[in-house]
Amino acid sequence: MTIATATPESGPDAPVVNVVITGSHALVTINNPPVNALSVHVRKGLMDALHRVNEAGCTTAALVCSGRTFVAGGDISEFAGPPPLPHLPDVLDAIEASTTPFIAVMHGTVLGGGLELALACAWRIADEKTRFGLPEVNLGLIPGAGGTQRLPRVIGLERAARMAANGKPVSARTFEEFGGLDLVFDGDPMAAIASFRDALPARPANTSTRPVDDADLTALKAEITKSAKGSNAPMIALETTALAATLPFAEGSRIERQTHLDLRDSAQSRALRRLFFASRSVTRPARLKAIEPAPVNHVAIVGGGLMGAGIAAASLAAGHRVTLLERDTESAEAGQARVEAIIARDLASGRISDDKAEARRAAFSAGADYTAAADADIAIEAVFEDPDVKRAVFTKLAEVMSEEALIATNTSYLDPNLISDGMPGPGRFLGLHFFSPANIMKLVEVVGTAATSDQTMATAFAFARGLGKIPVETGVCDGFIGNRILSAYRRQADYMVADGASPYAVDEAMHGLGMPLGPYELQDLTGLQISWANRKRQLAAGTWPGRYVDIADKLCELGRQGRGSAARKGWYDHTEMAGTRDPEVEAMVVAWRVERGITQQTFTTDEIVMRIMAAIVNEAHLILDEGIATSDTAIDIVWTEGYGFPKHLGGPMFWAEETGMDTIRDAFAAIEAQSPGSWKAADVFKS
Ligand code: NAI
Repeated sequence: MTIATATPESGPDAPVVNVVITGSHALVTINNPPVNALSVHVRKGLMDALHRVNEAGCTTAALVCSGRTFVAGGDISEFAGPPPLPHLPDVLDAIEASTTPFIAVMHGTVLGGGLELALACAWRIADEKTRFGLPEVNLGLIPGAGGTQRLPRVIGLERAARMAANGKPVSARTFEEFGGLDLVFDGDPMAAIASFRDALPARPANTSTRPVDDADLTALKAEITKSAKGSNAPMIALETTALAATLPFAEGSRIERQTHLDLRDSAQSRALRRLFFASRSVTRPARLKAIEPAPVNHVAIVGGGLMGAGIAAASLAAGHRVTLLERDTESAEAGQARVEAIIARDLASGRISDDKAEARRAAFSAGADYTAAADADIAIEAVFEDPDVKRAVFTKLAEVMSEEALIATNTSYLDPNLISDGMPGPGRFLGLHFFSPANIMKLVEVVGTAATSDQTMATAFAFARGLGKIPVETGVCDGFIGNRILSAYRRQADYMVADGASPYAVDEAMHGLGMPLGPYELQDLTGLQISWANRKRQLAAGTWPGRYVDIADKLCELGRQGRGSAARKGWYDHTEMAGTRDPEVEAMVVAWRVERGITQQTFTTDEIVMRIMAAIVNEAHLILDEGIATSDTAIDIVWTEGYGFPKHLGGPMFWAEETGMDTIRDAFAAIEAQSPGSWKAADVFKS
């Protein structure tokens, strides 16, 4: 639903807060596109509006927002400095104490400051599709304008604490059940306001003066500790909300405000806000801004395996027509079944409706005849990681498709220049590297070849954004941004295992930093054979950098290729229970060291983390030095979105700056001494 500014002063030059008084009723409209954020001019406008309706002696004031949503939050760009006057808590206190009671009339997403504003109104009514939430924790913050203190007084302590701590929005129906709404309507908000006023309930006591029943939050605390994974804001949000049960509103709000302001300066919040802004700028490269992307309707995917099926599902979800091409009819049917399984999962989980599922099925077809791709606007190849197979696919696509259409490879490590070399229409080829599972993971690395046109890049970025992805530009190198850093990460992990650390201790240490999986757990999950094949390729080409540790190769030779392999073993044993430590592997590692006469060293948890991070940060700087990444934030987006690096630590580059480059330099010197000749130093680490 969209609300047009139905006032004489509507249009782009309309005031950010507009007041129309009809008889004894006022209509106050916030008009601050795109999401009606509570910027300083809106706060000022609300104060002025409040005075006007009170002076006019209005009996009610309905507060609506123009455009696609009610207030969807504060103005994050103001968070970097001291907040300009008037402060939001004062505006909300004034609205709550106003002689003319306010009715919040909501649609869209009522988030953060938007929900705090609604809570200060006497009544709240909402369109049935509205969603409500306190997402501040996602930026390392807690509400700062009474949200944690008013919400429990409206919906009860436990529910409020959950909403504040997990940051997830709830639907209008749920919020109504919680007691957060006086009316849910479907349709014209002006009609809803009129009928609500006709049978206006008695003005309720101010939210801030209501008592709060205490609740046992022990279970919720345990839940939040687990889900927060080292991010501190969720528990602070929970504890601050809990103050509502014991402190008067004014005292609780004062503590909330101070905590909010302190958190604004915290490293975690700065990290999260930087990523938030970067995920917008990195996905829209400045040099492509002037280029109109070509429309994409029909998407062809070649290869219906793990990745192809995921990319097909993501394209269908974005409303594209999708043709899946496989080697033969039998493989096409298998690919179709994989795509169908994803649609069925989305349906079963309630993520999509029957109608949506049907629409996706209707827009999808699979086969082995390339002429079906003739009118596709983009083709994405996700066949085996073999340059000859990929070249053959590109050749066939280039034959049937228009030279205006894009042809992309999803290769993990191969050079897209070589895959497309010598083919007609070189400007249309590129790499689009999705992450697994491709229907869920947001990161896409966009790899231009030497010949890729800016038009192709602009269309590829728009296409990826349209899939709800976060596209990041990367130059060509082995593994692009993400997997190249991953290789350095694994290399240093292997060096420590070779010299004395248990692989399980390495995984544990990385958990301590906040990584959801350690390097060995990750290999078990993705399969050891992929990186094995890549290592063999690099060894054969003579491009393996430095010392080579072949413990993982030995596991592969034993058939221990990870959780999905026939043996259901890798670094861990998954036969009975996923991820059980295996004494056989530990014994094998020890024997491997003895055979090579390696004197076993001990590494503390801290040393493991610092040495791995030194390898990661060095590789990240090399990537910048070589111009493979366009900025340090691009690297941080890749590692937080694609590899599970904790967002509250901001990504490897932000983490390094916060930790101190001198400390990382020492750790880098230690890994150079540990494996001489194995590391090329980035400029910042050159002595
Ligand atoms: P997969 O083995 O699951 O699927 C490959 C599919 O390609 C199979 O269904 C096969 O029948 C089909 N295929 C092979 N040759 C073909 C041809 N000539 N014409 C049409 N179809 C053909 O492999 P997966 O994991 O989906 O990987 C595909 C590509 O994506 C590889 O280049 C891989 O490096 C890359 N990739 C893989 C990721 C992963 O996590 N598995 C992540 C990102 C990229």
